[in-house]
Amino acid sequence: MTTYLVTGGAGFIGSNFVLYMLEKYDDIRIVNVDVLTYAANLENLKSVEDDPRYIFVHADICDFAAMEKTFHTYQPDVVVNFAAESHVDRSIADPEIFAHTNVMGTLALLNCARNAWHQGDDDYGTHKFLQVSTDEVYGSLPLDDPEAFFREDTPLCPHSPYSASKASADFFVKAYGDTYKLPINITRCSNNYGPYQFPEKLIPLMIHNAVHHEPLPVYGDGLNVRDWLYVADHCKAIDLVINQGKLGEVYNVGGHNERHNIEIVQTIIRECSRILDDPLINDSLICYVQDRKGHDRRYGIAPDKIKADLGWYPETPFETGIVQTIQWYLDHQEWIEHVTSGAYKEYYQAFYGNKLETER
Ligand code: NAD
Ligand code: DAU
Repeated sequence: MTTYLVTGGAGFIGSNFVLYMLEKYDDIRIVNVDVLTYAANLENLKSVEDDPRYIFVHADICDFAAMEKTFHTYQPDVVVNFAAESHVDRSIADPEIFAHTNVMGTLALLNCARNAWHQGDDDYGTHKFLQVSTDEVYGSLPLDDPEAFFREDTPLCPHSPYSASKASADFFVKAYGDTYKLPINITRCSNNYGPYQFPEKLIPLMIHNAVHHEPLPVYGDGLNVRDWLYVADHCKAIDLVINQGKLGEVYNVGGHNERHNIEIVQTIIRECSRILDDPLINDSLICYVQDRKGHDRRYGIAPDKIKADLGWYPETPFETGIVQTIQWYLDHQEWIEHVTSGAYKEYYQAFYGNKLETER
């Protein structure tokens, strides 16, 4: 039986990954370590909470003693490190917590893995540490060169405090591989979408606002490009890299689904209006607001390596995935109400209130 220590398993991608793995494999155990920040929701994992193969540990990855104890108690074979502060806008307002969690938290886990797995002379048995990283570490691509893509050997050039913290964590993970021969992989994925994404992110935020006939705040000219991947396809890639990835390697993950932000917003308007038969959900809700500081213009991932070496391919076309996702949020409005109650309302007001009043 393989024991996976999944960090951040109560967040968006982490909870999708926990559900994906427990559905796919019988003979595994998942230990989910999560400190439960605003972005976490254990409700996502309700269907597995009584499953004997699933264990929840309420702890902070930065707490070295707690992590050591967790390694000692559960003896994980594999670590999958999702835990992070993940929202770029919050990193611009408050960078410190991003350095703390994303860098120091990763370092604490690397040290625990090294101590627990080392069997002498660069031998770590069949263990693996997988760092879940992001395409944002590569920086930004120009809009006028659609043939330019991020490849695994593209130099890291992060711009936001969030991406700087993720790039820094990637360097530490690679350093532990190079220096101590810790068995590592890094995956760098493009923007995910799907169920359980916290509604501060573009897609669920726009769906939530559209349903309530609230303004849809589009940053800048709306022409920034993101490369969207359905979350289950990301989970499938991580599973493949854990089981077949060559040690020490980085794998880019993306499905060549680049869209201008405004196209995403218009798709959401069209589909919400159609499904709810509500003509008040229309383009008049779009509100162009002040741009994000240092806003990366375009992300575009070249996934050739993971396709060629591991046979990965994305199964959900964007056109299907986006409609499925919109339908999921419409069917789970109580989920959105639950996660946006309390502190999030204050965040939303403080962040968007002024922007929406002074439209660009
Ligand atoms: P999320 O914000 O939805 O979830 C993060 C989870 O980590 C939450 O459950 C939170 O409670 C937990 N966490 C935060 N700090 C912690 C700490 N100190 N100790 C333990 N748990 C902690 O994030 P997400 O969108 O699911 O992203 C997960 C990972 O994937 C992140 O590392 C992110 O950088 C990476 N990633 C995200 C995307 C994307 O599009 N969302 C794309 C590529 C990579
Ligand atoms: O590329 C992978 C990254 O994708 C992950 O590493 C991050 O954790 C994840 O948050 C995401 O980052 P982005 O900044 O691309 O995602 P976000 O949903 O915040 O924004 C997507 C685009 O939409 C971006 O160009 C900013 C724009 N946007 C966002 C919000 C929240 C708006 O125009 N209006 C908004 O209100």
